[in-house]
Amino acid sequence: MTDIPWWSNAIFYQIYPRSFADSDGDGVGDLGGILVRLDHLSMLGVDAIWLNPVMVSPMADHGYDVADPRDIDPLFGGLSELDRLVEAAHARGIKVTMDLVPNHTSAAHPWFRSALSTGPGSPQRQRYIFRDGRDGGTTPPNNWVSVFGGPAWTRVTEPDGTPGQWYLHLFDSQQPDLNWDNPAVFEDLETTLRFWLDRGVDGFRIDVAHGMAKPVGLPDMINPGIEMLNADDEDPRFNHDGVHRIHRGIRSVLDDYPHAVSIGEIWVFDNEDFAKYLRPDELHMGFNFRLVRTEFIAADIRNAIANSLAAAALAQASPTWTLSNHDVEREVTRYGGGTRGLDRARAMALVMLALPGAVFLYNGEELGLPNVDLPDDVLQDPVWERSGHTERGRDGCRVPMPWSGSAPPFGFSANPDTWLPMPTDWTPLTVAAQIEDPTSTLSFFRAALKLRRSTFRFTDRDVQWLPSDADVLVFLSGGVLCVLNAGPDSIPLPRHEVLAGSSPLVDGELPPDAAVWLRGS
Ligand code: NOJ
Ligand code: MG
Repeated sequence: MTDIPWWSNAIFYQIYPRSFADSDGDGVGDLGGILVRLDHLSMLGVDAIWLNPVMVSPMADHGYDVADPRDIDPLFGGLSELDRLVEAAHARGIKVTMDLVPNHTSAAHPWFRSALSTGPGSPQRQRYIFRDGRDGGTTPPNNWVSVFGGPAWTRVTEPDGTPGQWYLHLFDSQQPDLNWDNPAVFEDLETTLRFWLDRGVDGFRIDVAHGMAKPVGLPDMINPGIEMLNADDEDPRFNHDGVHRIHRGIRSVLDDYPHAVSIGEIWVFDNEDFAKYLRPDELHMGFNFRLVRTEFIAADIRNAIANSLAAAALAQASPTWTLSNHDVEREVTRYGGGTRGLDRARAMALVMLALPGAVFLYNGEELGLPNVDLPDDVLQDPVWERSGHTERGRDGCRVPMPWSGSAPPFGFSANPDTWLPMPTDWTPLTVAAQIEDPTSTLSFFRAALKLRRSTFRFTDRDVQWLPSDADVLVFLSGGVLCVLNAGPDSIPLPRHEVLAGSSPLVDGELPPDAAVWLRGS
């Protein structure tokens, strides 16, 4: 089985660099902080890091607004620090993948600045999506809404000082969408891809991989009230067929670097449509967000898993699994919070880690961190402003990691003034508090990752469902039997050797909100 690529069943660890570890005392995490904390990743046993964007950026969307795609922001330590990180991670056998943002740039990108200064009709404007407004120019060219709230168009002031054209931004107004019909846009992306791959980077997570291509004529949305997590497949802003030509272009570059992987962020829920992105000449893998959207209900979890497996199988691609990331409420909170939320999050982690395919853990998941309720005046996500203070945004899942000690900043930084405040009651959640405790969530993750590596034999990309009560899931995967109890009562288990459990058994039975791995035969 030597032809199985490294990423097929890999554990990726997502690092939100602002929130992982701060090495220079400015209260914001950085690459130097990751270097100092690499032991944590080795101890946990991950195969690869996915770094959220660290390129030069004014940070209007914390790095997803890129002003120079081929340099690292000084806030994170500059290019030399990235080189050091790649080298140090590789020395430990950990791959490094980066976030790539091809749908848009920052409004501070030199291309956008020159698009503004040159005026309507200029070749510089053709790199973005500028249009004249309707009603004599005063209303936006169509009814598209920004994913972050408000209109997806902003009107510019022309070089002569008059109100002028509008530009499209599916996200913040500081993130103008690129015009992917212009060949210069792909040429520049190719330069960027090679720039990082030549430096030893092991691949990319591709932001808004179902965006980029826009339909001719930019037709109105039928339902402009839509939210990101409930994207519908009729939305003209996303999943336009022209996107596949772009992915083929990206893949043709990546094929020059056979060690490198591409994983697309694809909010597309029709399986046939989703699988198109994973054809042999497009992306290697696609994020599938079904589990993230699923409540703790056995039948729904089973459907989400079966559906994700089926979608990937259509393209013979590796499935991918994730329970959380920097855009969604942390799962401990999603599943109800408190002890129950944590029990369920651990149970779901065991389910996820039993599945064939690549698994993406989000920093802090291994500590069982909950979402944080932050006061209004510290919120930074552009969603808060753009929604007119109706959506609090994603800051609550981005609070810095607690490492040690009994008060904020819990070893995250030398500076108590961290970019988002840390809860004072996180003492039991720090890495230091959990590491020696065999019952901690950190020890649980560490043991589960080790077992996944040593015991599972993923010879195919499917699982075998076994009969069970409606509140229970039982499946065989990689030679291991996984049982999840999502019902209200304890359940007896078959007499197999117990390999791991998310909660202790009670009188030999599996309690509610718990999962277990049993030796399959
Ligand atoms: C998806 C990213 O995950 C999110 O954090 C970001 O705000 C948008 N894309 C825009 O780049
Ligand atoms: Mg710093």
